[in-house]
Amino acid sequence: MATVKVGFYGHVRQYHNLKNEIDGAIHEVLESGSYVMGPKLKQFECDLAGYCNTKEAVGVNSGTDALWLVFMALGIGPGDEVITTSNTFFATAEAIWVAGATAVLVDCDPKTCNIDVNLIEAAITSRTKAIVPVHLYGQPAEMRAVAEIAKKHKLLVIEDNAQAFGARGPDFTLGELSDAMCTSFIIQKNLGCFGDGGAVVTNRTDIADRVRKLRNHGSVKRSVHSMGYNSRLDDLHAAVLSVKLKQIDKWNDQRRSYAKQYDEGLKGTSLTLPTALPGYRHIYHLYIVESDRRDSLQEYLKQRDITALTHYPIAIHQQEGFPWGKGARLVGSLKNAEASAARVLSLPMFPELTGEEVQAVIDATVAWDKEQKIG
Ligand SMILES: Cc1ncc(COP(=O)(O)O)c(C=O)c1O
Repeated sequence: MATVKVGFYGHVRQYHNLKNEIDGAIHEVLESGSYVMGPKLKQFECDLAGYCNTKEAVGVNSGTDALWLVFMALGIGPGDEVITTSNTFFATAEAIWVAGATAVLVDCDPKTCNIDVNLIEAAITSRTKAIVPVHLYGQPAEMRAVAEIAKKHKLLVIEDNAQAFGARGPDFTLGELSDAMCTSFIIQKNLGCFGDGGAVVTNRTDIADRVRKLRNHGSVKRSVHSMGYNSRLDDLHAAVLSVKLKQIDKWNDQRRSYAKQYDEGLKGTSLTLPTALPGYRHIYHLYIVESDRRDSLQEYLKQRDITALTHYPIAIHQQEGFPWGKGARLVGSLKNAEASAARVLSLPMFPELTGEEVQAVIDATVAWDKEQKIG
């Protein structure tokens, strides 16, 4: 029986660890009187582009907005198809739908849970405009393969990097092999502000310029507007993110170290453990185990004061609200996405955990596993 209560998020602990710096940054913004499109946003965009090694970064209101504003900037809309995977958070497909395009869903690889790159070419039609690989759970999709297919078929690539900030491939960085990369800074993400936020990171100045305009009512000059929207990243969030960005590599290293502790503690159980591709820097935004008895494990942990969640228990194409008809086209069987939805469980994973807490989760999970074997 675990004696340690283990929650799923470390937001407050993170705030306490950085309290002086964060309070100082917030105070500075409050005293400056510059809260929207001010110098802290500019500074963070500069910091972000520097970290990602890209020419441009544009702060927006959320990861979802980052995606659909890029689609808008690229002229992707009604009549166009965008290929992505059914094993992702709803927002990936939702943004395609909001842009007016059709989401073409292919299955995921059963091991990495990322888009199965071998299925992409069969999904391409004359209407296909773009591929949206998602770096799910903290592991980059196989970007070299995606970029090669895109080049061969003259398609755009937009990375959904809401979940793998700071991850890398063996020979590529995220944001390097695409037209644009979209991130989310909602508090649950490994780089999160205190609310909603997102960004577009790109080497294409034309995309950055168009998103800058679109996020601000189609305006770069006061009172002069064209088609746009209101999706700005506030200076308060930007200032906090600049503070947190300095910690991201250290935090991701801690996640990787806890992932190793889980891997070692849970090997030999009936659970399927995460697969990290050789050479990839998986940053374990989520530590996912799989089991046909996932609900039983989740309940067992809950009774021992350990919170485990499901990401995601319903595949996109199985969502009640998903736009059928023109909004979606399914390619082949999506059996891996469906199996994943039925089997995945996310164990507590955040850098502010203690080794003792991770061990408590391992002990409870191993105890559950033994009971299954006896039962
Ligand atoms: C894979 C993925 N894509 C897109 C989003 C959308 O980001 P946001 O919640 O900031 O709109 C999220 C997160 O919420 C996500 O996990």
